[in-house]
Amino acid sequence: MNLTFLGHACFLLDDGSCRLLTDPYLSENPLAAAKPDDVAADYICVTHGHGDHIGDTEQIARRTGAKICCPVELGSAVFAPQGLKTIPANLGGTCKLPFGSVKLVPALHGSGVSGCLSCGFLIQMGGKKIYHAGDTALISDMALLADEEIDVALLPIGDVYTMGPADALRAVKMIRPKLVIPMHYNTFPLIVQDPHAFAESVTAAGFSAAVLEPGQTLSL
Ligand code: NI
Ligand code: MN
Repeated sequence: MNLTFLGHACFLLDDGSCRLLTDPYLSENPLAAAKPDDVAADYICVTHGHGDHIGDTEQIARRTGAKICCPVELGSAVFAPQGLKTIPANLGGTCKLPFGSVKLVPALHGSGVSGCLSCGFLIQMGGKKIYHAGDTALISDMALLADEEIDVALLPIGDVYTMGPADALRAVKMIRPKLVIPMHYNTFPLIVQDPHAFAESVTAAGFSAAVLEPGQTLSL
């Protein structure tokens, strides 16, 4: 089971038979580690409708035939009109998929598309449970995730649009994951952060953190 950081909120999860891509913001991200034409995907999970999360979903899904997992109204408003395959789901719901499952969990953030919600994802794949928080503020709902025994939590630390490092650390203490990986920082001047300082704060609180460079793969 491999997890590769492609930049911003984009990760590729690969269990050896299925490839799941999250928030593929690649062509317009100068720090991205892949081009939309080069990335493989069977499923694309999109947390919300902002441009830095929808990114190159259309191009990648059209080329690969990947199915898109996202809040149902976002699928209806954006992806279905593009003729792309979407998986119907909404917050609290779990999609059972060939590799495992994807559950849509609350995120507190604008959706970018009128009438749509933002979400995070709880992904079960390759015997691991991975939480992709999406763009979100710190919310007390995260405490409910402690019961999920999450292996890897992907948390935004950029501030301004999402949690900053201090609130992300508070999130870690609620979620209690085995490993924390920061995301959604340094892509734009407004969200410049020191991920290593964040990782040190996580370690000091008794948890584990890893900072991935774009293109870096972690074996879980
Ligand atoms: Ni956003
Ligand atoms: Mn964002």
